[in-house]
Amino acid sequence: VSVQSIGVDLSGDRAYEVRVGSGALRGVAQSTREIVGDRASRVFVVVDSGVPASHFDRLSQELSGYGFSVHSCALTPSEQMKSIETFQKVLVELGSSGHSRVDPVIALGGGVVGDIAGFVAASFQRGVPVIQCPTTLLSMVDASVGGKTGVNLRLADEGGGSKVLKNMVGAFHQPKLVVADVDVLESLDERYRRAGLAECIKHGMIAQGVQEQQGGSDHGGLLDWMIANIEGVVGFEPDVLSELVGRNTALKAKVVVSDELESTDARAGGRMLLNFGHTFGHAIETIAGLSPDATRPELAPLHHGEAVGLGMVCACRAASSVGLCDQSVGDELVELLRRVGLPSRVGGLPDSDEIVERMMRDKKAAGGALRVILPVGRGKCEIVIDPSVSILCDGIDSIRAEKH
Ligand code: GLY
Repeated sequence: VSVQSIGVDLSGDRAYEVRVGSGALRGVAQSTREIVGDRASRVFVVVDSGVPASHFDRLSQELSGYGFSVHSCALTPSEQMKSIETFQKVLVELGSSGHSRVDPVIALGGGVVGDIAGFVAASFQRGVPVIQCPTTLLSMVDASVGGKTGVNLRLADEGGGSKVLKNMVGAFHQPKLVVADVDVLESLDERYRRAGLAECIKHGMIAQGVQEQQGGSDHGGLLDWMIANIEGVVGFEPDVLSELVGRNTALKAKVVVSDELESTDARAGGRMLLNFGHTFGHAIETIAGLSPDATRPELAPLHHGEAVGLGMVCACRAASSVGLCDQSVGDELVELLRRVGLPSRVGGLPDSDEIVERMMRDKKAAGGALRVILPVGRGKCEIVIDPSVSILCDGIDSIRAEKH
C-alpha cells in the first residue's frame, strides 16, 4: 500500500483530504468512522454496477467491522439516468433505510454515480456527510474533487421533443474525504481509461496559468510531466498512474480552493478554467451518431472525455484563428491526443452554425452569456465572454474529418 495525501484546504471544517494510491480503499471504513464519530450507526453506499463486486463486498465488510449497518443501492450510469427521477429513487431508498442526519453516504463509482450520490447527500435532511470513492480515471482527477453534485434537467423544446441541460440541477456539497484507489482502474475498460486522460490533458493545458496566478507547488510543469511520462501514462503503469492522479487532483484542489463556487468572472479565470474544452465538448457530445473512429460507426456516441478532447482542439484553433495564441498550442494538443489514442477529428458533424447555435441556446436557456475558455499561450487559458460566431465556427471546422 502506497498512498499519497492531498489537502483541499477550504476554510473551517470543509477542508478535506484526497487520498490517492494503490490499496487506498482499504482505509475507507476506519476513516469514515473517525470522520462521522460514534453517533452514526448506518452507512448508505451508492454503488456503480460496473464496479467489480469484490470492491463493494470488501468495503461493506470493513464498514460492518467498524460498527455500521450497511445499506446500498446500485446504479447503472448513463447520461439518460442522470435525472431527477433517479435522484428521487435514491432518496426514497435512503429514507427507507432509516438513514439519519449523522449517517454518511459513500459513493463508489464513476462521475455519474458520484454526482447523484453527492446531490442526494446534499439534499437529504439538508445535508449529510458524503465520502467519494471514484472508480474511473475521469472521476478521480475531476468529478470527485470539488463538491459539484447534481443531475441533468430535461426540458420540452419548441419542436415537441425534449432537450437535456447537463448538470443543471444540483448543489455544492464538499465531500468529507475522497479516496482514489488506482488498483480499481485495472478493471476499467480501455476506452474509459483514455477518456479520463482527456481531463488530465485539460489540466495540463491550464496549469501554467494557474501556477502564475497562485504560486505554490509546481503545477505549471504538468503538461511537460505528461509528455515526458507519456509511455507510462498510456501503458497505465501503476506508479505513473498514481503520480498522474496525484498531480491532477492537486491541481484541481488548488483551483477549487481559489474559487470554490465558480464565482470569479475575471478574464484570468478561476474554477471556470476547468471548463476548458467543455462548452464545445458538451455541444458535440450531445450530437447523436458521432463515433471516435470513422471506420467504426458502432462506437457511437462519443464518450465525455472524447468530446472534451475534440472541444479542446476547437478552442485552440478558434483562439489561434484570431491570434490569441500560437498555432503550436493546438498542434501540441493534437499530438498529445494522438499519443493517448483520443480523436482530434470527427466525421459526420452538422454545420458549424448549428453547433454554435446549440452552444448559445443552452446558455440562453440557463439564463447566461456564453463563456468560452480559450488558450492564450502554452498551458495558459482565459475566459472569453460572448466570442464571435465566426471564431467559434473556425474552431469547429478544424475538427471535421471530411477535410482530409
Ligand atoms: N469539473 C469542473 C469543476 O469541478 O469545476
